[in-house]
Amino acid sequence: MSHAPAQSLTAAPGHPLRGSLRPPGDKSISHRAMILGLLAIGETRVEGLLEGDDVLRTAAAAKALGATVERLGEGRWRVAGVGIGGLSDPAEVLDFGNAGTGSRLMMGVVGGQPVTATFDGDASLRKRPMRRILDPILRMGAQVVSEAEGGRVPLTLRGPREAIPITYESPVASAQIKSAVLLAGLNAPGTTTLIEAAASRDHTERMLRLFGATVAVTPHGPGGHGRSIALTGQPTLRGTAVVVPADPSSAAFPLVAALIVPGSEVTIEGVMMNPLRTGLITTLIEMGGEIERLNEREEGGETVADLRVRASRLKGVDVPAERAPSMIDEYPILAVAAAFAEGETRMNGLHELRVKESDRLAAVAAGLAANGVRHAIAGDDLIVTGDGTAPRGGGTVETHLDHRIAMSFLVMGLAARDAVTVDDGAMIATSFPSFRPTMQALGAAIGG
Ligand code: S3P
Repeated sequence: MSHAPAQSLTAAPGHPLRGSLRPPGDKSISHRAMILGLLAIGETRVEGLLEGDDVLRTAAAAKALGATVERLGEGRWRVAGVGIGGLSDPAEVLDFGNAGTGSRLMMGVVGGQPVTATFDGDASLRKRPMRRILDPILRMGAQVVSEAEGGRVPLTLRGPREAIPITYESPVASAQIKSAVLLAGLNAPGTTTLIEAAASRDHTERMLRLFGATVAVTPHGPGGHGRSIALTGQPTLRGTAVVVPADPSSAAFPLVAALIVPGSEVTIEGVMMNPLRTGLITTLIEMGGEIERLNEREEGGETVADLRVRASRLKGVDVPAERAPSMIDEYPILAVAAAFAEGETRMNGLHELRVKESDRLAAVAAGLAANGVRHAIAGDDLIVTGDGTAPRGGGTVETHLDHRIAMSFLVMGLAARDAVTVDDGAMIATSFPSFRPTMQALGAAIGG
């Protein structure tokens, strides 16, 4: 178990933000590139990989399980895989640090293959529920050798010689659960089917196809909001080229900063526009945010666009629960935008926020309280009320080892009446290592 020493950071209001930036590579796609690179035969070349701590942990785990993993240059990586069934027992504990996605997806991999591995992570990861992954993979033949209380890491998992193909109806619309089941299903002699009641991000399905697997996706359930995803087991995955587009979840921070800092105009380049990831943009446009999608094009099998964002007067809106899977990581920064909007913003159905890198619902509420923002939690809903002017700010926010809480409240500090401090910005390195210099280049005052 490990994490970087705490480092407090302060963001102060100041000048308008101006200029352009390209956010780092998408975290979800970067993890998957390493994992499918491991499971493929031959060479995978990745361009634009997010070199954040989370992904580097997944890269190290892929290496420990037998892949050759090499950094060729900035964001350029080469993975020589071992093929499905070719993994070896890692000599050491797989320490995933803060990374929920890396650890859970890799549990799916190990849970479907004849290998034994121990998973661990930092204090945040040690609190996060892993039963949601273990439940299906135990049905597929995996065994838990040991686990911390409540099915948490540190835990040791042993996979079967061949996985059992199952049909699994996921209790949560979670791309992590879906991906773990599909990854375990790669070593099953038959079809593994995952049913989700609402569509979650589909990067695993897309990348499995890119590597040569057969994945059939059909609408499921009332209104066709859900999906049934059927993977044909034991394919030969072949190493390929993966181009990682810019992460919309990281773009969210400069985007909201540009909306709320008066006089700003910022262009955010190459942002992935996968519709299962763009709920925040939809919501901010409904709130009156001036966001133009320019220069739409294809990059690495995804549509990307440049976003031109201008400071805007925002108004409160009702965000439907059905939108949550497409913006699940963006509620902390949306809550910050809502604090600057006129009227009430109601974010419905946020129960999953309680099991992210921190209890994000509680962490956001505490951060809003520390900075004089009117808000309430009603069941699983968060209600933020603004009057269209800058909130007081001046607070110190506890980040609970959560990178998105840190970045969200630093963005608040850029436009609040008084500076905002976060107790620890070290975790920002998990997903957006260049956050501080990138924001400073736009004119933001963020200091240690
Ligand atoms: C992710 C899925 C999401 C998200 C996480 C990344 C992924 O989790 O919160 O940051 O890459 O699959 P859930 O799908 O479990 O909500």
